[in-house]
Amino acid sequence: MITSSPAFGHDKDDVDEIDPEPLGLLGRWLPPAESELRPLMTLSTIGLDGFPDTRNVLLSGFDGNALSFHTDTRSRKAHELAADPRVALALVWPDAGRQVIVQGYAVPTDAAASDAAFAERSRYLQLLAWTNDAPTAALPRNARRERWDRFGSDHPDGALSAPPTWVGYRVTPTRVTFWRGDTDGPSNRIEYRRSGDGWAVSHLPG
Ligand SMILES: Cc1cc2nc3c(=O)[nH]c(=O)nc-3n(C[C@H](O)[C@H](O)[C@H](O)COP(=O)(O)O)c2cc1C
Repeated sequence: MITSSPAFGHDKDDVDEIDPEPLGLLGRWLPPAESELRPLMTLSTIGLDGFPDTRNVLLSGFDGNALSFHTDTRSRKAHELAADPRVALALVWPDAGRQVIVQGYAVPTDAAASDAAFAERSRYLQLLAWTNDAPTAALPRNARRERWDRFGSDHPDGALSAPPTWVGYRVTPTRVTFWRGDTDGPSNRIEYRRSGDGWAVSHLPG
């Protein structure tokens, strides 16, 4: 868990001491579940034209097994994931000299889980989920703001449940790579790949 800026590149006494599985370590690198400061994560998908596609989303949570994020069923990424659920995720803490890269499969969560995540979103993000559609995006700025204001006053704080277009995904890692900077020497990069019931671990340069 990163609570403040740790010494650059040091999160344990001996970074060469290998955890046999990466998910516990991943949990220690991420902010606690109750933190409002969800990290931003680059989510890469495979475009419908075969080209890589990418964008940033908020990491909604990590339950010890899977990372989750939320989006709109009408979005390009949702269409891409329906065609091919393979994703890569990148989280970076430049000040702490750390990066985590994850590969895995994105699987939609059930409605109860996505409803619960919506309830935890800020008022601003709830309004965004309801009003951020293609017709609104095509309006001029003043008209977009009017729509936002009208929707907000018709739906007081606490009254909104998730729109039908709200969807969550869980990404269960198949590969996790931890990168730590080291001001006094080469960086430290450890890659875990799922192998049978366990993980194959490699030290990598770069
Ligand atoms: C700081 C920040 C946070 C964002 N969080 C989300 C998010 O949690 N979910 C989401 O769908 N889009 C989020 N976006 C918008 C996406 O980056 C993207 O523009 C949008 O989801 C459309 O992507 P797509 O057309 O590839 O589907 C965020 C953007 C920024 C800059």
